[in-house]
Amino acid sequence: MQFHSTILGIESSCDDTSSALINNGEIKANIISSQDVHRKYGGVVPELASRAHQANIIPVIEETLKQSKTAIEDIDAIAVTQGPGLMGSLIVGFNTAKGISLAINKPLIGVNHLQAHVAALYIENKVKFPMICLLVSGGHTQLLYVENHHSYKLIGKTIDDAIGEAFDKGAKLLGLRYPGGPQISKLAESGENKFKFPDAKTKNLDFSFSGIKTSLLYFLKKKVEKESDFVQNNLNDICASYQHALVEMCSKRLIKAISQYSPKSISIVGGVSANSLLRRSAEEIGEKYDLNVYIPSLQYCTDNAGMIAMAGSLLFEKGEFLSLDALPFTRS
Ligand code: KG4
Ligand code: ZN
Repeated sequence: MQFHSTILGIESSCDDTSSALINNGEIKANIISSQDVHRKYGGVVPELASRAHQANIIPVIEETLKQSKTAIEDIDAIAVTQGPGLMGSLIVGFNTAKGISLAINKPLIGVNHLQAHVAALYIENKVKFPMICLLVSGGHTQLLYVENHHSYKLIGKTIDDAIGEAFDKGAKLLGLRYPGGPQISKLAESGENKFKFPDAKTKNLDFSFSGIKTSLLYFLKKKVEKESDFVQNNLNDICASYQHALVEMCSKRLIKAISQYSPKSISIVGGVSANSLLRRSAEEIGEKYDLNVYIPSLQYCTDNAGMIAMAGSLLFEKGEFLSLDALPFTRS
């Protein structure tokens, strides 16, 4: 795929304020400012998130332009996350993008956050299609059949929690700080998969994580009744076992999707694709079925504007622009 554009990307759908600059398909800067204010509340507080976006967005864009040695007038378009996401957070990025578009008279591109997670793959890979993509984030868990850069179909989804939510809620039960995914992942490294948490039965390629989370809750209750320090004494093994159950849920569906769709490649994207067990598992599946495997480097797994800029580059080639009365949306 050839690109012919310089695009400023802006992402503000949740609790990361980010902007990036991409030139002819190559990322020149990808600045991410993560919000620390939510830590003590154990989850993202929407009102605090939008206020922090407001404080961060202009400095983040200025830093992006500085690092990429680009003048704002030299960009061809502004790509911005239109949704899904938190409305108050989306509005900050969306209105900033509109303001820049008006000021420099360059087109505005609305990007779907989930499509952007998939587009993150095109930053570093020349992808072989068709591809089965496992999208695993804090708000979504989906299996996609990706036909080419512009078209894909949804072939599986979670019927309850997203996998990132299951990581974060599990971490909360274990007394770990938000966001819990990275912490479970780290603690699991020196633990063993000793405890079993049952897989849920779902239709075809759908996922279900709430049963695994509930079984962790009852498991901990039962154990702590007998041994009050059970969690402290077994934290690494609990994390390893819980993580194993969550990753298994994904690996099984991925293998099933390969047998049903015979793709040329597989990939994982979204915040949870930073998880080392899931990354290893995808590599192993790829090797076993002789398929190319694409996994973004860490900076393009969790929310970032690099992926928004790449998705924007694809839409720029198609000439898909927004009018200035367009609005953000919360659900996909
Ligand atoms: O894609 P993302 O940054 O935001 C959404 O679009 O939701 O994903 C955030 C999610 C959080 O639930 C976080 O706990 C999880 O990704 N996450 C991880 C890891 N790094 C981030 N989960 C497991 N292991 C990790 N290493
Ligand atoms: Zn995301």
